[in-house]
Amino acid sequence: MCGIIGIKSSDNDVIKKTLNCLHHLEYRGYDSSGIAYLDHDKIKIIKKKGRISDLEEKIDFSCETNLAIAHTRWATNGKANDTNAHPHHMGQVTLVHNGIIENAAILKKELEKKNYHFKSDTDTEVIAALLDDMVNQTHDKMEALKELKTKLVGSYALGILFDNDDALYAVKKDSPLILGLDTNSYFIASDVPAILDYTNKYIVLEDNDIVKIDTTYHIYPEQASRKIHHFTSSYSLDDKDGFAHYMLKEINEQPGIIYHLLSKYLKNDLIDLPDLTIYQQIDIVGCGSAYHTALVAKTLFEEYSDTKVSAYVASEYRYQKNFYSSNSIVIFISQSGETADTLACVRQVKEKGIPSLAIVNTISSSIARECDNVIYLEAGPEIAVATTKAYTAQITILSLLALKISYQKGLITNLDSIKKDIRHIKEVLIHLINDINYIKIAKKIYQRRDIFFIGRLIDYAIALEGSLKLKEISYIHSETYPAGELKHGTISLIEDGSPVISVITYDKIIDKTISNIEEVKARGAYNIVLTNQNITSKAFDYVIQIPKVNAFLNPIITIIPLQLLAYYVARLNGCDIDKPRNLAKSVTVE
Ligand code: F6R
Repeated sequence: MCGIIGIKSSDNDVIKKTLNCLHHLEYRGYDSSGIAYLDHDKIKIIKKKGRISDLEEKIDFSCETNLAIAHTRWATNGKANDTNAHPHHMGQVTLVHNGIIENAAILKKELEKKNYHFKSDTDTEVIAALLDDMVNQTHDKMEALKELKTKLVGSYALGILFDNDDALYAVKKDSPLILGLDTNSYFIASDVPAILDYTNKYIVLEDNDIVKIDTTYHIYPEQASRKIHHFTSSYSLDDKDGFAHYMLKEINEQPGIIYHLLSKYLKNDLIDLPDLTIYQQIDIVGCGSAYHTALVAKTLFEEYSDTKVSAYVASEYRYQKNFYSSNSIVIFISQSGETADTLACVRQVKEKGIPSLAIVNTISSSIARECDNVIYLEAGPEIAVATTKAYTAQITILSLLALKISYQKGLITNLDSIKKDIRHIKEVLIHLINDINYIKIAKKIYQRRDIFFIGRLIDYAIALEGSLKLKEISYIHSETYPAGELKHGTISLIEDGSPVISVITYDKIIDKTISNIEEVKARGAYNIVLTNQNITSKAFDYVIQIPKVNAFLNPIITIIPLQLLAYYVARLNGCDIDKPRNLAKSVTVE
């Protein structure tokens, strides 16, 4: 969480550039922000609770400077207010921080004994004091920066300014940081999209790197081996393409992305995807929506590819006892490629020598780099905090992997029928996205306090994602149950008009789910049924009919109405759809 940016330039327009870059990082946290810049040899700090636009109101854009650092925050230590906002200053040190320092309380006590007085509740102010103290002792900034890693426990990417020094410094451990290279300017940033308005050339910094930028850049202890990357994607970052929200834009990008992935891999009969038949144990690990894709994959692999798969939430997987054999593989799913819990699992698995495969969107992200093998989602940067296009791209890759196993095992004798299906998939998706009936249903349910989702097996896995989308952007309480499970307690919450959204696409157990729908109807529920089956019941209040497609492609189709329903419910409630409260796009703390 949190985004950091720093610029050292030979031009004097750095305030404007820094804030522009900061806007691109706002998805990482948006409860407060701040900037520090060199103003006539003195460091000036301006910070503000709220959005970056609130900060900008306090800034004198006419001030000329060639050096600045800035931060957009997702509060971890201490609530969101002006004081806790970054940058933090202590003695000769001013810095911005992304990450979390686990031993901050102990360090703070030691530093208080040395007469450091703290104004904020943050761990970041502790780093500033610690570094100031270390520079005072060593009289050598680089020495102090090298020593910092021996004192700090936790994760950090730091952008640092020192009084009376016009260089920009940075260090990192377990939090992402890149170094951007332009002809007149050097950048440090939490991710690549932040700097793309100015340059597409960058170096991915590694743990324990120390960067000093004066008239050029220096990376210690090792610079020679660092590869300069060129970002080549043509996706626009800033442009909503006329859509009211990034979420809606990204929902509309899905037909193109899914079609591209399906055609790319099916063209060569899936030869470009890894062979998973050599593994007897497949664990799939992710957080949030990425975990939901793992659950969808589990049912696809098991039902249609006769392959056992276990799906795990990363924050549990990293602490539970895991059993591996000589033919285990762990697949990691992540849009950002930086999610702290998922990354920790990658490192554990690597340490045990277990093969790993990343399914990731962000190019060169930590998870992509650290796994043995990576399949990129090629979905382009996802800006809306609630994932849509990355989720369906993940499902697409996982479906193709399941399909490949099925094909290799001879459960499917040829790929012709699915190849034929994908020609229509784009049209089907576009048609579903353009259906205006979601607005009608949204109007029926947007004022409710609780909304329930039910489904069985794969439909349950899809429903979980529908419910998450709804609750995270509309703030309406929502729960999902395997359809047969609701009556074991939660049915007591059903009252007159309670919306229950049932997903029925798995054709082997339709009747059982219809019975469950009838049970909730008897208790007053308003039943919305999302189905690709030809079914009716007096208990159904509204049916969202979707087309029947190949089972491997079905989850991609089925989630679309649920994404849009969540979107319109949030819109009717006047919610901040792209930046829901309390959330951030990239969860880089545990
Ligand atoms: C929900 C959502 C989150 C993410 C989760 C994992 O809309 O976006 O649940 O799926 O935080 O993030 P990544 O995929 O970046 O690892």
